Amino acid sequence: MDLEKVFHMNGGVGDNSYSKNSSLQKKASDKVKQMMVEAIGRVLVATSWPKSMGIADLGCSSGPNTLLNIKDMVEAAGTAAAATTREVPEFRVHLNDLPTNDFNTIFRDLPEWYRELKTRSRVYVAAYPGSFYGRLFPDNCLHFIYSSNSLHWLSRVPSGIYDEKGVSINKKSIYISNKSPPQVQQAYREQFQQDFSSFLKSRSRELVRGGQMMLILLGRIDPNPVHNIFWEILYQSLATLVSQGEVPEEKLESYEVHFYAPSMEEVEEQVTEEGSFKVEVVEMYEIDKDAGNCSSYGVAVAKTVRSIQESMLVNHFGETLMLDKLFHHYATLVNQHMLKRDNDISSITIALVLSKIN
Ligand SMILES: C[S@@+](CC[C@H](N)C(=O)[O-])C[C@H]1O[C@@H](n2cnc3c(N)ncnc32)[C@H](O)[C@@H]1O
Repeated sequence: MDLEKVFHMNGGVGDNSYSKNSSLQKKASDKVKQMMVEAIGRVLVATSWPKSMGIADLGCSSGPNTLLNIKDMVEAAGTAAAATTREVPEFRVHLNDLPTNDFNTIFRDLPEWYRELKTRSRVYVAAYPGSFYGRLFPDNCLHFIYSSNSLHWLSRVPSGIYDEKGVSINKKSIYISNKSPPQVQQAYREQFQQDFSSFLKSRSRELVRGGQMMLILLGRIDPNPVHNIFWEILYQSLATLVSQGEVPEEKLESYEVHFYAPSMEEVEEQVTEEGSFKVEVVEMYEIDKDAGNCSSYGVAVAKTVRSIQESMLVNHFGETLMLDKLFHHYATLVNQHMLKRDNDISSITIALVLSKIN
């Protein structure tokens, strides 16, 4: 399957859109906003206060988070300039996501966004569709690269989880689980290493000398790639539809996700091994289990997962998949887990700033 043609967050601004269901991701990036502000300040000094600053947001998606994150970056540069006698640079903003991303929803918000920006400088926004696992921009055109909540998506489901007939060896799971054979863990880890290394290589060509990169992605505390409860619950919700005769079992057994939550050590190891970047700052944190505007945390998570995973589910299970029912089960299971004494529902985020080694 060609992921680049299928995978996208739910577009538009309707009830199931990413736009309306991405407040948990916003929380994860807001928590480390100061890290970004400080990195922008360091970049401006290290690159001798450029007249024109190139910024990129990789995996920008559509919805309010995209332009709010860019606004924070532009304002951080403005604040850094105001603390000196330097002029605020003009900004060349490069928004990137996969080609089927709903870029139009972002563009529609641009006129109002430009009006509300508190900067006297010019800001030019453009979109660059493509996979961030390859080259996206010309050599040496960016000063700061930002990516939030995106790099845990792999370029593909690892080929190592299929046997010689192309059948998944990962039975009763859609990601690494306690039931997965060791080869499954190994295949996912290797795919992450390969993808993250390609990402770093490409970005090192695109960043100018002195440039930095801030990456925010889902991760895990445990060094062993143990199960991820959110995927486990999606498996259980799909299994309920199988037991009710609404989804064929073989369809469920052939569904796998192209996701990997690395440990901090795995991320740092890969940065060192690839060799183009140095880790400046790194942090690991958990975001609050907050229901936001939803009736429960379970509903909030179910709506978030639906807005992210619907394109892949419909592509695999077909248009007849009962998404409302599926995510009703999902919300119920999350809420049940929350009530357990040893509930393991936690979402771990890793944030890091990398500087290009000249
Ligand atoms: C959960 S959204 C995050 C959006 C936004 N950055 C935020 O923090 O709310 C993840 C985004 O990464 C994008 N993505 C995943 N793999 C990608 C790839 N290989 N190249 C570019 N974008 C990718 C997805 O299409 C999706 O829009």
